Amino acid sequence: MAPTLKRLNTSARVALSFFLLSIIIGTVSALIMLGLLLTHQESGFAIPSVESIKIKYHYPQLVSAMKTSMNQYVADDADIETVAKWIAGGKSEATYEAEVRPILRRDCTSCHSPGSTMTDAMPGMPLTTYQEVLPLTQAGYSWVKMAKQAHVHLFGIGTFLALVTLIFAFTSFRPWLRITAISVTWTALLLDVLCWWLTKYELGFAYVIVGAGAAMSGGAIAMSALALLDLWVRVPLISDPKAGDGGPG
Ligand code: HEC
Repeated sequence: MAPTLKRLNTSARVALSFFLLSIIIGTVSALIMLGLLLTHQESGFAIPSVESIKIKYHYPQLVSAMKTSMNQYVADDADIETVAKWIAGGKSEATYEAEVRPILRRDCTSCHSPGSTMTDAMPGMPLTTYQEVLPLTQAGYSWVKMAKQAHVHLFGIGTFLALVTLIFAFTSFRPWLRITAISVTWTALLLDVLCWWLTKYELGFAYVIVGAGAAMSGGAIAMSALALLDLWVRVPLISDPKAGDGGPG
């Protein structure tokens, strides 16, 4: 008996083909966006470093801003170390007054103060007092931001991944290939999000984020491309010999 996908009528196969094509282009676009955001480049296909993942998910926002988006205002890069040490050492108010406040006053509060009149000011995020700076010293994303990112990511990607993996499940490929590709991609999605949380506390999980992200996007693109082929032709080697030669039967 011909496999299910190949038994669909032509219009259904046209519809699925456009859907799969959109998934491929969408996933590639997401990778381009992620690369550009993480590397702060403006165009092209940038490959983010593990360091940029660590900055995003592990370093406190104050330190990561000083290393990236706000780096141009940091007069002396050694001051980033001073701020990082203050946070790692327990964020005492005395050290803040003695060492951190002067740095922020020199580099940051011209924009980051309630009364700032600078054109590019950020009065909504003042950095003038200990109490104002403290919330920016948590490792990685705050719990609220993390939970928000995690559920949007899982609902959004989960929905299209369910469609892609179900389509792939009905291709004429060998069963081991279908089961492996589907399990690896779903596991990578869950591992990716889990490791955002773990990296907040343990830097080493940044490497798992990179691996899981690559496996998930690679899996989605590969399954979509193979299913697209399987809708129209018989793919040699990986097609199940028991599935017959396909064709709308
Ligand atoms: C010329 C004005 C200006 C100066 C100086 C400035 N900032 Fe900012 N900052 C902004 C604006 C505008 C935003 C919001 C837009 C953005 O994120 O680029 C911002 C956003 C931020 C954010 C939130 C976004 C992020 O990337 O995490 C942090 C944290 C921050 N600044 C810290 C600092 C620190 C620390 C300094 C001093 C080293 C500093 N800023 C100096 C204008 C400034």
